Amino acid sequence: MSYFAVKGGTKLIGSVNINGAKNSVLPILAATLLNAGENVIHNCTELRDVDSAVKILRHLGCRITRQGKTLTVDSSNIIRCDVPESLMREMRSSVIFLGPILARCGQARLSTPGGCELGPRPIDLHLDALRKLGATVSIDGGEILCRADNMQGRDIVLSFPSVGATENIMLAATACTGATRIINAAREPEIEDLQNFLLKIGANVCGAGRSEISVQGGKTRCRAEHTVMPDRIEAATYLCAAAACRGHIELRDIRPRHIATVISILSDAGCDIKTDTNCVTIKSARRISALPPVQTMPYPGFPTDAQSQLMAAACLAEGTTVFCENIFENRFRQAGELCRMGARIKVSGRTAVVEGTKQLSGASVRCTDLRGGAALVIAALAATGESRIYDIEHIDRGYESMENAYSSLGGSIKRKEE
Ligand code: EPZ
Repeated sequence: MSYFAVKGGTKLIGSVNINGAKNSVLPILAATLLNAGENVIHNCTELRDVDSAVKILRHLGCRITRQGKTLTVDSSNIIRCDVPESLMREMRSSVIFLGPILARCGQARLSTPGGCELGPRPIDLHLDALRKLGATVSIDGGEILCRADNMQGRDIVLSFPSVGATENIMLAATACTGATRIINAAREPEIEDLQNFLLKIGANVCGAGRSEISVQGGKTRCRAEHTVMPDRIEAATYLCAAAACRGHIELRDIRPRHIATVISILSDAGCDIKTDTNCVTIKSARRISALPPVQTMPYPGFPTDAQSQLMAAACLAEGTTVFCENIFENRFRQAGELCRMGARIKVSGRTAVVEGTKQLSGASVRCTDLRGGAALVIAALAATGESRIYDIEHIDRGYESMENAYSSLGGSIKRKEE
């Protein structure tokens, strides 16, 4: 069993190049099914979730090669239209393959994704939208079966700006007759990156980044070459680490506007942050002050995927910080593990109150989920003494060899086997 051995108390100093975004490469890999041809995708980080998506594409019949950070996906010959349970269980967001398989094959069979560490994660918005586009959707024995002989474009109003539902509708709508308008669409930067890829394969789509997206159905048969956008959540993670560990780091290959809310909260807490076109520098010379109340919201609000990491920094702040998790029901699971390190956190439902303490102490802790795991590494790097962090496969789902990145900044962290 792998674990991280961390010796805390070292300032983080140096620079990090931000990798391609996990939450952008996944829907783009799913979209490669649409053009029945060759797709060259650059800046594909080596992550467990990306490997799961590649397995699904291969299962469907795609030929895939990887050269460094470039994946070449040839989707000319699709031989199946199902995603088996084993692959669906590997990665909850495999549901994103539903729309493109349906668009490409006229039918799709997936096992229901079920919940995850963050709570029940229904896909009702995905299925309702596909029904509205004219697909028949049945769920039987944990399997979703969709058929779409002649999908018709129309207006889809989302009751919540779900990222996954917006992406699935955009992908399915490319195969509809006529135009689809997604109203109250998600506005995350990853949606814009997906639109940029779709335009390259010949799709007619516009409005990504705003709350109304239009897709005109039609042929998508162009070969595409695309570079995935930088990972704003990876960048937010290193900013929170610098704030907690009193560091001075430079993040390269990042778009500062994508993390504006994180930058503003950490600046309010006393960090000196400077931005340039593709670069963010943070200097945290002293203990941060308490953060203003943190409400997680759909983009451009504060990202739920940075909440745990910010909580780790807030554990060492001068004063008390209140967190409200508005996106997921169960996203404070890291709190119990942080308290093992001496943090003072009270959780009640979707609210957590973090009373800052001068010092955390190293301990043996377990990752509860991807971002919760990232938070534990931050706390361990800032703590005095040694920590052991277990269940790090959660972290590998979304960060490429995190230990190397922190070691390059002077952190003492090693991946070990027990
Ligand atoms: C995406 O998940 C991200 N994953 C998540 O990142 C991120 O936390 C989330 O968006 C919100 O920003 C990927 O992009 C692969 P949603 P997704 O649909 O698409 C409810 C990480 O750490 N909902 O916007 O699954 C849902 O239960 C991951 O990298 C319904 O009720 O998120 C949740 O409470 C974790 N019905 C909320 O909406 C639906 O049909 C947001 O979900 C769909 C969603």
